Formats: sequence, structure tokens, C-alpha cells
Amino acid sequence: MAQVLILYSTTDGHTVEICRRLKSVIEEKGDTVELANLADHPRLADFTFDKIVIGASIRYGKHQKTVYEFIRHNRETLEKTPNALFSVNVVARKPEKNTPETNPYLQKFLRQIDWKPQNLGVFAGKLVYPALGAFDRTMIRFIMWMTKGPTDPTGTYEFTDWNRVEEFGRMVAEL
Ligand SMILES: Cc1cc2nc3c(=O)[nH]c(=O)nc-3n(C[C@H](O)[C@H](O)[C@H](O)COP(=O)(O)O)c2cc1C
Repeated sequence: MAQVLILYSTTDGHTVEICRRLKSVIEEKGDTVELANLADHPRLADFTFDKIVIGASIRYGKHQKTVYEFIRHNRETLEKTPNALFSVNVVARKPEKNTPETNPYLQKFLRQIDWKPQNLGVFAGKLVYPALGAFDRTMIRFIMWMTKGPTDPTGTYEFTDWNRVEEFGRMVAEL
């Protein structure tokens, strides 16, 4: 039985939902899972772990700064530990952009960091238009209009393929 540390970066909470699903799948397989928010600047020395998973969402084309900082400060430990990384974004709702190889955000991120995660995932995210402020709602509606996505400002759209999330969880359990 291994201990899995899942570190996440989120703005609106959907990445945490994905992490919770991963936790339940991984724990069903016998490992134990602890979640930590990268926004709290967690120190690896405060955790016991045999595997590390990092999950981060995209906002306006970027993963949050805390993700880059964490990777930069902990690269040596990451390299010594079985690991996986996943990105959450709405571009991944498109079949031609929903794999680690074809998702532009994940590919760009990998070019920007000085670490090569052993395992990669990409999950389509969720849009809750009514929960957004006026500026963000307008911007995202415009982006979705440009990319032929839903633009109803009263709508909630979850694009996540939970089967793929569960498959990723089973992969982590096997590491
Ligand atoms: C203000 C805002 C900006 C976003 N920008 C992008 C973007 O540039 N590209 C993209 O694919 N998804 C974008 N998204 C979609 C998010 O990645 C998606 O909603 C994800 O589920 C958010 O995860 P979180 O709740 O964990 O932060 C954006 C969402 C919001 C609300």
C-alpha cells in the first residue's frame, strides 16, 4: 500500500473535484491519498508520500504561477518519485486536443518546465457562466463563440470525461 500526494492548482474548484474522484479511485485500489492546494505553498517535507500527482487548471491560457514555482523548487524530489501530471482546460473538450500530445496548453507547459513528468493527463474542464463575474463571463463567452462552444450566459457546462479521470486514477494506483 502506497501513499499518494495529489497537489492541485485551481481557481474555481473543478480541478479539486477531479482530484477527489482520483482519490476515490486510487483508494479503492488500496493506496491512501492526501490532497494539498499549491496555493497554500505546501512543503514536501511536511508530507509522507511514495507517489506524487500534480493537477492544474488553465485560466487565460496559463497554468498558475504556483505550479511553476513548486516544480522549480522540488524538481529533485519529483524526479526521484513515481509521478504524474495533468492539466484541466476547456480546449480539451475538442477530440483533436484532448490528449497530452495534442493539447496545446500541456505541450507549452512541458516546454516551459525543467522537469519531465513520467505520466501525463489532460481533462476537459467545466464552465459555470452564472458564477463568473461580468468581465470573465464576457471574455469566456467570446472565446467559446470563437471556438464554436456554448455561450448561453445562464448555462453550466461540464465537459469532463469522468471515465478518463478514473482511468488516470487506476494508472496512478499501478505506479
Ligand atoms: C476566466 C476563465 C478563463 C479561462 N481561460 C481558459 C483558456 O484560456 N483556455 C482554456 O482551455 N480554458 C480556459 N478556461 C476554462 C477552465 O480551464 C475550466 O473552466 C476549468 O474547469 C477550470 O478549473 P478550476 O475550476 O479548477 O480552476 C477558463 C475559465 C475561466 C473561468
